[in-house]
Amino acid sequence: MKCYVNPHRIYGTVNPMVYGHFIEHFHRQIYGGVYDPASPFADEDGLRTDVLDAMRNIKVPVLRWPGGCFVSSYHWKKAVGKNRMPFYDKAWRMEDPNTFGTDEYIKFCRKIDCAPYICTNAGTGTAEEMSDWVEYCNLKEQGEYAKQRIENGFPEPHAVKYWSIGNENYGAWELGAKDAEEWSRLVLESAKMMKHVDPTIELSAAALTDPNWNLKLLQKAGNFLDWISIHVYYDALQNSWEYAPSDYETMMGRTGKVRNSIVKVRGTLMMLGLEKRIKIAYDEWNPRGWHHPGIHQNLGAGLENDEFLKARDKNDINSTYTMADAVFTACFLNECIRNCDMVKMANFAPLLNTCGPIFTYDGGIVKRSTYYVFELMTHHMGDISVDFWTDKCSEETMGGQQVKMVDLAAAVRSCDGALTLSAVNKSDAVTQEIEIPLPEGYSSSTVYTVNGPSKDSYNDIGREEVRITEGEAILSGGTVSVKLSPHSVNLIILR
Ligand code: AHR
Repeated sequence: MKCYVNPHRIYGTVNPMVYGHFIEHFHRQIYGGVYDPASPFADEDGLRTDVLDAMRNIKVPVLRWPGGCFVSSYHWKKAVGKNRMPFYDKAWRMEDPNTFGTDEYIKFCRKIDCAPYICTNAGTGTAEEMSDWVEYCNLKEQGEYAKQRIENGFPEPHAVKYWSIGNENYGAWELGAKDAEEWSRLVLESAKMMKHVDPTIELSAAALTDPNWNLKLLQKAGNFLDWISIHVYYDALQNSWEYAPSDYETMMGRTGKVRNSIVKVRGTLMMLGLEKRIKIAYDEWNPRGWHHPGIHQNLGAGLENDEFLKARDKNDINSTYTMADAVFTACFLNECIRNCDMVKMANFAPLLNTCGPIFTYDGGIVKRSTYYVFELMTHHMGDISVDFWTDKCSEETMGGQQVKMVDLAAAVRSCDGALTLSAVNKSDAVTQEIEIPLPEGYSSSTVYTVNGPSKDSYNDIGREEVRITEGEAILSGGTVSVKLSPHSVNLIILR
């Protein structure tokens, strides 16, 4: 298959925050995840050093916290300072120890050198509570909340630049859900108060791919917004009691959905002439939905019925996260690179445990298949997105959809001029050979590949089937040829 790359046809600059992440007070992400003072790996702040090392290795650029549905009834003021009282988390219907709050989160971000990104409570919260949080984090010493931060041992502001108003408040499942009119008014008043505290912050608000919802939001509050937040999960494992992750073919059949959602949001922003000012943040995305059945059912069963809590342990089944997840993740990141002019942040949901790239157990961690896609992209992929295409892409029917077998994205590395080509082979059985005429000035190549023995390969405790290996590129007559093995993620570096 002939492919062509033009390093002079530039789409834009890739914001490294498209390789971002999210962590929520859910199951074993925070407590029993990264924050586990009893763990032999724990440091002086109770954070697992093996987890921090793995996060540093994939260069987490931004980390959204504390939710997610959790945040819509969370009150940050009860989670700073001494004498923390456990509280009942009405979103996930369980007690939260409340020992991990804003200051612990900021310390965590500093340790992995990533930008904090706080999502505020627009479910039961108010504009005042949100703007008080900005005071606590960003004012030097003015007012009671900055003084509280100083008293809590943090004389310098936390300097949190990224904030979002609310989480999925459009959804009936969310505590404090709102209709478009209520939502746009709350966002306007909250954004106004937050920017009155610190006009340098960048603000997002929960949105949809639905133009009607976004129109109302952007017309009312767009003047105060810098981002629009979109969430997308591609395998709905959330609410069914049966835990049945979709197979490889079905997941490949869904890769076309990534572009559809970006086109809709891009279109709405362009229609309003906002495409140069408001950026798109896919601040929750994952090939797999989180499994938490019964959260809105069994309401008559009373608190003794903790079936819905036990069901969440199924998120820990590592065989779920196969090459389907790795291939899908690479296709999603390629779409962000191709749309880098507007998609400036994406947060894999979540970073740790549940459906995340890192899994913890008492004895250590497992790097799941998606971990290696983030390692590949954050270590090697360029930052100036350029055109990379083929005019004869083979197609197959997978999961009932017509699917192009190869997904391509390219970027020049501004640090050394290398031309990096991300080439994904979605076929579960057919090797795709691509030939690329070498652009002028490039004469050598290296290939790295994420793959496992089969499309269903996965990593687990004592089992490392999926890893990064060095592949082979053949240079001949001004062309570089690479064989893309089935179900593989490949990164070709031309110098
Ligand atoms: O399934 C987990 C939830 O997905 C997150 O808490 C929420 O933001 C989204 O609905």
